[in-house]
Amino acid sequence: MKILAVWGSLRRGSSNETVLRALAPVGVEVVLFGDGATNGIGQLPLFNPDVEAAGEEAQGGAVAAWRAALAGADAVVISSPEYAHGVTGVLKNALDWVVGSGELVGKPVALINASSRVTVAQASLVEILTTMDARVVVDVAGTLAVPLAEKGSDEEGLLAAPEARKLLAGALEKLVEAVGDV
Ligand SMILES: Cc1cc2nc3c(=O)[nH]c(=O)nc-3n(C[C@H](O)[C@H](O)[C@H](O)COP(=O)(O)O)c2cc1C
Repeated sequence: MKILAVWGSLRRGSSNETVLRALAPVGVEVVLFGDGATNGIGQLPLFNPDVEAAGEEAQGGAVAAWRAALAGADAVVISSPEYAHGVTGVLKNALDWVVGSGELVGKPVALINASSRVTVAQASLVEILTTMDARVVVDVAGTLAVPLAEKGSDEEGLLAAPEARKLLAGALEKLVEAVGDV
């Protein structure tokens, strides 16, 4: 079983990326969408229906890579900051690229957020994903803010906090169960 992890920040040392890195030791295979140094969704061109209609050559390889990564995943986990009470532009852009192609249709999705203040963007993300016919099966926010702040910003620090470990394991377990339900 393969889970694709997507984060909505291009910032080096992103706390949302850290949360996703902490998922890997908890169980099943979790692959972050990136090259190890950068966030893969940051390579996508700005969504434009004309470019979409023009096909892969006009889009560069990034759109095809994004769609293939989603298609090859059994489930997706997303962690994203909120910007001005909205979903970050880079994440919304990435989602717009798969509205028409449909890689998220029926796909189990877990939303995990490190911050306790992201309620507006998190609710908006649920609305967007539901509109795209994805299955949002986990929606957690806030509980990781304290361990992230207390233990520093790396995944080992996060996993050293029992409550964070429990939350991440619980989220993955629900996601894996949802894949079984499909
Ligand atoms: C332009 C901008 C707008 C932001 N707006 C909000 C906001 O509306 N609500 C909020 O809770 N945090 C907001 N933040 C704070 C970020 O969500 C927070 O710093 C987050 O942890 C960054 O995630 P990252 O570490 O993955 O980059 C904003 C940050 C930036 C840079």
